[in-house]
Amino acid sequence: MNNVTEFKRRRLALQSQLKPRSMALLMARPEVLRNGDTAYPYRPDSNFFYLSGLAEPEAVFILLSKDLGGQCILFNRPRDPKLERWNGFMLGLEGALSELAVDEAYPIAEFQQKLPDYLQQVQCVYAPWGRMPQLDQWIMDAQEHLKKQVRRGVSWPTECIDVQHMVDEMRVIKSDYEIQLMRHAAQSSVKAHRAVMQYAKPGLHEYQVEAHFNYHCGLENCRFQAYPPIVASGANACILHYVDNAAPLQDGDLLLIDAGGEYNYYTSDITRTFPVNGRFSEPQRQIYELVLAAQLAGIAAVKPGVAWNEVQRVMLHILTTGLVALGLLQGDVDTLIEEKAFLQFYMHGSGHFLGLDTHDAGAYKIAGQWRLLEPGMTLTVEPGLYIDANDTSVDKKWRGIGVRIEDDVVVTKEGCDILSDGLIKTVADIEAWMAR
Ligand code: GLY
Ligand code: MN
Ligand code: MN
Repeated sequence: MNNVTEFKRRRLALQSQLKPRSMALLMARPEVLRNGDTAYPYRPDSNFFYLSGLAEPEAVFILLSKDLGGQCILFNRPRDPKLERWNGFMLGLEGALSELAVDEAYPIAEFQQKLPDYLQQVQCVYAPWGRMPQLDQWIMDAQEHLKKQVRRGVSWPTECIDVQHMVDEMRVIKSDYEIQLMRHAAQSSVKAHRAVMQYAKPGLHEYQVEAHFNYHCGLENCRFQAYPPIVASGANACILHYVDNAAPLQDGDLLLIDAGGEYNYYTSDITRTFPVNGRFSEPQRQIYELVLAAQLAGIAAVKPGVAWNEVQRVMLHILTTGLVALGLLQGDVDTLIEEKAFLQFYMHGSGHFLGLDTHDAGAYKIAGQWRLLEPGMTLTVEPGLYIDANDTSVDKKWRGIGVRIEDDVVVTKEGCDILSDGLIKTVADIEAWMAR
């Protein structure tokens, strides 16, 4: 699927920020070998894709400032019947013009030779400096080439600006089109989470649960996961980014699954924690319900005008109060929060922006102040409690319990809309669902 209107809108939005006599360049991420001659499945760089719409390697996207004509130019791979016989369809130059609505398309092999012609027209170059070493090198080589011609009156750009930061900021507010894709990613993952909740049982292994999750995402055209799924049973759940997914599921343990499919390059990121045998033990239930109370309050706090750290503040208050009530922390709640006593059990933030990247682009503080939420921002809300299996400072019954509950939300005018809505999370609903 390709939405040309959307890509054109993004290009105009970037162009409106360009200085006169300037150009912006973005480059496709190169293919990466996994082993031998086998490449990792190709995934375009998010900023390059955001503007170009192209999901192929070996390409450079150029946007000229309005005073220079405002063209949008793509250098990409021409179609090649021999390569296409082996590796499949290539968009080619004609495809770039018709499908991506760029104004001009040229073979990528000509880019280096044509670059000085562009550079001598401009004073300022916007590029993802430092992120695409090949592009940096091409620009520097072209600059050197121009400098050698100074006595012939040739000029070159004298100002470099980071385009990465500008595109990152554009990506913070999602369009309806993006939200629609993200909803599909989230809802496909919801189906997969619901399916694995019924599939998991003692005796299976974490990798089998992972395979089942991948399968259900694949059925919804989410062929790739947004990140390697975390399928963590028992105390493995206390390893925040556990990805071994190798252990057998033990009767009496919890299973934490943090996994989300990617759809059309848009991610989801969802966590559920449930008992392998379908019934929470009393200590598991107490920890679970505390995390759930924090998450519900965190989601309720998401609305326009609220500062980014407010969601964490609300959740920390509930978690710390609950930890004191359960005897896991001792002392005055406000003092414990001030002293960050919760770090023993809760060592991450409230969530993150979500979009083309799981930990999506955009600044969290602006001029030193936490950013205020705005309609169209998409983020996760994901409190957790992780009690180390070897933590002798707490009663034995708590050790090795790890719980995280994570949903994806979009900020609306009044509050927020849960993209991962429909995925059960109360103790009663989980136990009933697993008993079916
Ligand atoms: N799955 C990574 C995270 O929750 O941030
Ligand atoms: Mn996650
Ligand atoms: Mn997350």
